[in-house]
Amino acid sequence: MTTQTDARSQKTRHDLPAPLRELFDLTLARVAQKVAEDEPGLGVEFPYVTRTDGSWDLMPASLSAGYQGEAWSHGNWFCGFWVGLLFASYLRTGDEHYLVWARERMRLVAQRADDGNTHDIGFIFESSAIPGFHITGDDWYAQIALRAADRLRARLVTTPAGAYIASWGPMDDPRGRRSSAIDTMANLPLLYWAANHSGDGSYRLAADAHAAMTAKGFIRPNDSTYHAVEYDEATGKRTRGFTFQGLHDESDWSRGQAWAIYGYVVSYRETRRAAYLDLAERTANYYLARLNGRLVPPWDFDATGPDADIKDTATTAAVASALLELGDIHPDETVALSWRERGLEMLAGLCREEFADEASHRGLLRNSCYSRPHRIGVASATMFGDYFFVEALCRAAMPGKFLPSSAPVIVAGHS
Ligand code: GLY
Repeated sequence: MTTQTDARSQKTRHDLPAPLRELFDLTLARVAQKVAEDEPGLGVEFPYVTRTDGSWDLMPASLSAGYQGEAWSHGNWFCGFWVGLLFASYLRTGDEHYLVWARERMRLVAQRADDGNTHDIGFIFESSAIPGFHITGDDWYAQIALRAADRLRARLVTTPAGAYIASWGPMDDPRGRRSSAIDTMANLPLLYWAANHSGDGSYRLAADAHAAMTAKGFIRPNDSTYHAVEYDEATGKRTRGFTFQGLHDESDWSRGQAWAIYGYVVSYRETRRAAYLDLAERTANYYLARLNGRLVPPWDFDATGPDADIKDTATTAAVASALLELGDIHPDETVALSWRERGLEMLAGLCREEFADEASHRGLLRNSCYSRPHRIGVASATMFGDYFFVEALCRAAMPGKFLPSSAPVIVAGHS
């Protein structure tokens, strides 16, 4: 029998030391302030990366993904993240202006739910429509997320060796159809959510199949990851591993490693497959080994010389969020708490060392790197980095409020 005293002496995995609670609360309050200052000036566009003067570069949500000749343009895959920041700001402040803004912005973003050309609809809608539904209970948000999930599920390519989600391009274009990127792992939460919400397990089957095929096609023997691969559709064998945003095809693009960690944590949470827990921990351990005690990794772990000074705080933010989730769901109490501690350390480090508190810098995290090879958003804030930072803050400071989460686990014996 559990007495009241027993219950009080138990500690949940969500407990937060007071100094961290204060740091995260203050940071979220400052986030809400910055977002409210910027929102009225955005018009119909959305923040993307900061310019050298610290102001946001903007892009309309309507910019969809597509080929421009031989070059692939990702379009605006950032727009949902801003909606997520508005919802998190509402949670922190209780100010309903944020809900009004979020709904207006969601109307602008919703058109992208029919963009069948890109896996990024996962990023776009898991950061906007899913928190929108979770926080407001308004079915309008859920219906938008389900529309996007249908498009993402339709990108599944089945081979004799398994099935994968093709990451970009029209599905009848062989250039995209044969290709997949490690980033897709972080787009799977949309499919898992759709399965849970609708009761239609085919969304989960698609996500699970992709996670299993990615384990074979992307993870190198040392637990590092390829950024992208091409498969032979007739056999399912990988024909090529390559990169767009990394240093070279065999290098360790740090954010790619973050997407793998993030995707396997979520895949374990949603399927409880031990293989995914193992992959989440192996890819995280590889990341930590290469991080070698630093807070923020270089944009590519194999960068050398002055290039290695270019950091990517978005990677730290995504890994922190993933490790907090891992700390929530890991079946071993001791291991769970140690992953959680690593996640909290990273998050606190970002708040203390990389948060752009100055009015002239409109982003939240300094020193992200969207793409070094393309020279876009280098030493900038990036909208995705800011979003994963805030997602991690919400996970730590208000668990279960921003996104649906697994039930809190009671850790017996910790007081
Ligand atoms: N497309 C996701 C990334 O740039 O990391």
